[in-house]
Amino acid sequence: MKKGKVDALLGIVFGDEGKGKVVDYFTPQYDVVARFAGGPNAGHTIIFDGKKFVLRSIPSGIFDTHKINIIGNGCVLAPDLFLAEAKELENAGYNLKDRLQISKRAHLILPTHRCLDHAYENLKGKNKIGTTGKGIGPAYSDKAARVGLRVGDILNNFEEKYQSLKGRHERLLHDLHYEYDITEEEKRWMEGIEYMRQFQLVDSEVEINHYLDEGKTVLAEGAQGTMLDLDHGTYPFVSSSNTTSGGVCTGLGIAPNRIDDVFGIFKAYSTRVGAGPFPVELFDETGDTIREIGNEYGAVTGRNRRCGWIDLVALKYAVIINGVTQLIMMKGDVLDNFATIKACVAYQKDGVTTQDMPYDTAGWQPVYEELPGWQQDLTQLKSEDQFPKALNDYIKYIEAYVKVPIKIVSVGPDREATIVRH
Ligand code: GDP
Ligand code: IMO
Ligand code: MG
Repeated sequence: MKKGKVDALLGIVFGDEGKGKVVDYFTPQYDVVARFAGGPNAGHTIIFDGKKFVLRSIPSGIFDTHKINIIGNGCVLAPDLFLAEAKELENAGYNLKDRLQISKRAHLILPTHRCLDHAYENLKGKNKIGTTGKGIGPAYSDKAARVGLRVGDILNNFEEKYQSLKGRHERLLHDLHYEYDITEEEKRWMEGIEYMRQFQLVDSEVEINHYLDEGKTVLAEGAQGTMLDLDHGTYPFVSSSNTTSGGVCTGLGIAPNRIDDVFGIFKAYSTRVGAGPFPVELFDETGDTIREIGNEYGAVTGRNRRCGWIDLVALKYAVIINGVTQLIMMKGDVLDNFATIKACVAYQKDGVTTQDMPYDTAGWQPVYEELPGWQQDLTQLKSEDQFPKALNDYIKYIEAYVKVPIKIVSVGPDREATIVRH
């Protein structure tokens, strides 16, 4: 059966690792780029030729006009947000309709899913997850409850199906005493539905397997990160999909033995947006400095990202869960000015020290080792032979801990600021 292959590029920490940049960078090497999970909770930034785009549902391969892009069955899609995102690309001169395919099995996010997202967050009070408010949890809940609406539903008797699910949501929202007015939103949402009809709505699992049989190569673009995975992340402070390599199979309809490389992408430090345990979080000036220099504010929501040193316990866990074959380290340049850099090598609680990810990371303290910083401007580097010794040492230190090579080092947001290690 082996002909084409699938490689996966996955965020392996708490999201926002720089997936958009690297997928865009890798795209020339593939025939197809496919999203397999998540929806508009994602914000993937791509910068090239002085232009910046933030993609939410559309795969980051879209800027290479010769490639096929697929929104896979594991994704959830909000038609109004999709319309806005696609129009922005069309206005910038990118014609999408002949090269963006949408799975008929992907689920739709209704306006009332977003109301439910807010209502459930309100209900949680101080235990809020800090969701993106995009209706992700309620849409995936309806999928699991087998009442969800799928993209394919818009082709047949849609209005009746829509009203039925909306009615169900309205009853829930009424019980939750949640007040809302979605009149305008619903209008734009319906415009989004009409707009989607112009796209190729496909059986994407059939298409992808045909491409593979023809010898084509597929890059599966992850969203979020391993620590936000519904099963393996810091539950309940997670998203509602499988963001890990298993999600590539279920979210695209491809068999595990089709997957070749699994690229695990992480930052030279840690960030997290939203609530939930985060052992390496820094509440001091160092954390603020990382946030400022790294511009660690949500690409979609603008929220402050919580910052800390690199967490090798989490990284190693993610390497194992995903079967990572190659690592990609982003944003090394953000640490340029630090005289010393710390790395969390274990967690400690009640006299117990562990390097294995605990069931619940709340209350665990990080055990740090300290390394010298490079105190040099990395953004000017063009090749690995120019790496300062302290950067090489930092890279080797991480590799020795997680036992997977770091193949790419990113030293700036632009497509060009990407260095391959040999
Ligand atoms: P994604 O969700 O994983 O695609 O990542 P985001 O786009 O949400 O966040 C990554 C941010 O870091 C974006 O603003 C990128 O432009 C930026 N970025 C990516 N790589 C680098 C890098 O190597 N250095 C710096 N300074 N910024 C980077
Ligand atoms: P990308 O693909 C960072 C976080 C939210 C919240 C939790 C649940 O850009 O890396 P949700 O709206 O999914 O129900 O929120 O997950 N979250 C992300 N954090 N990057 C993302 O996507 C995220 N998508 C969701 O902040 O804590
Ligand atoms: Mg992001």
